[in-house]
Parts: sequence; C-alpha cells; structure tokens
Amino acid sequence: MNGPNLNLLGVREPSVYGNQTFEDYFKNLQFTYSTIDMEYYQSNLEGELINKLHETGFSYDGIILNAGAYTHTSVALADAISAIRTPVIEVHISNVHSREEFRHKSYISRVCKGIVAGFGMMSYEMALFYFINNSSK
Ligand code: DQA
Repeated sequence: MNGPNLNLLGVREPSVYGNQTFEDYFKNLQFTYSTIDMEYYQSNLEGELINKLHETGFSYDGIILNAGAYTHTSVALADAISAIRTPVIEVHISNVHSREEFRHKSYISRVCKGIVAGFGMMSYEMALFYFINNSSK
C-alpha cells in the first residue's frame, strides 16, 4: 500500500526514488513470487488509506505500507494500524534517517511489525520476504 505522491514514482525526484514506476516494479514482483497473492493500492488521501487498512486488516496475512509523508504526520494512520489485526511493515524507498530532520520522526513505527528503509524499491521485497517466511497459511 502506497501513500501520497508515490503514484509519481519513476517521474518524481528520480535521484532519490529511482526511475521505475511502481506498476512496473509490482508486475516484476508478482512474476517473481507468482505463488503469493498480492494486491497493490495507492492513494494520496489519508482517509482512503485508513479505509483500506480497515478493509484488508482483518483478513490479509500482511500489509506492506509506504505511507509517504503521512508517516511523519499521521496519528490517524497509526491508530488505524493499531486497530487492525494484520501485521503491517513500514517501508521507505529512501533512507529517511539520512534526510531532513522532519523525516526522522515516524508516527507509525511503534505500531508496525518492523521497518525497512533505504534500499530503493527493494525495500518492499525485503518486507515481503518476512511475510513469506511467517505466513500463517
Ligand atoms: C518515503 C519517504 C518520505 O519521507 C516521503 O515523504 C515519501 C517517500 C520513501 O519511500 O522514501 O513520500 O516514504
């Protein structure tokens, strides 16, 4: 699940976020892990991300969430993650701790299973690796 501005991956600040669109990356991921049922959701709206967490958070095995800038601002997203049962892994493409001070604070880390940051698009795959090895099915 991707939050605000991540629909512009491939176009947005390529020196930070790379040249690949998320759609292309996701297709490759589905191809590589063809036995895993995966869905992609992106929204620029906080409330829509919360609705999607509620919708998926009682039946899915895992949620990989790049909340974008809402990571650094949203108590509401943190509350939504606390409210659901599905474990959530916080993901960032960039190493947020090597960037501006305001990116060092995350409201969601304390309610997430773990955090992966700084490995480019591979951050998502690393989070997926956890769920593959810890699936209840
Ligand atoms: C990001 C880092 C955030 O600070 C930023 O607001 C983003 C992307 C990342 O993936 O590196 O939108 O979550």
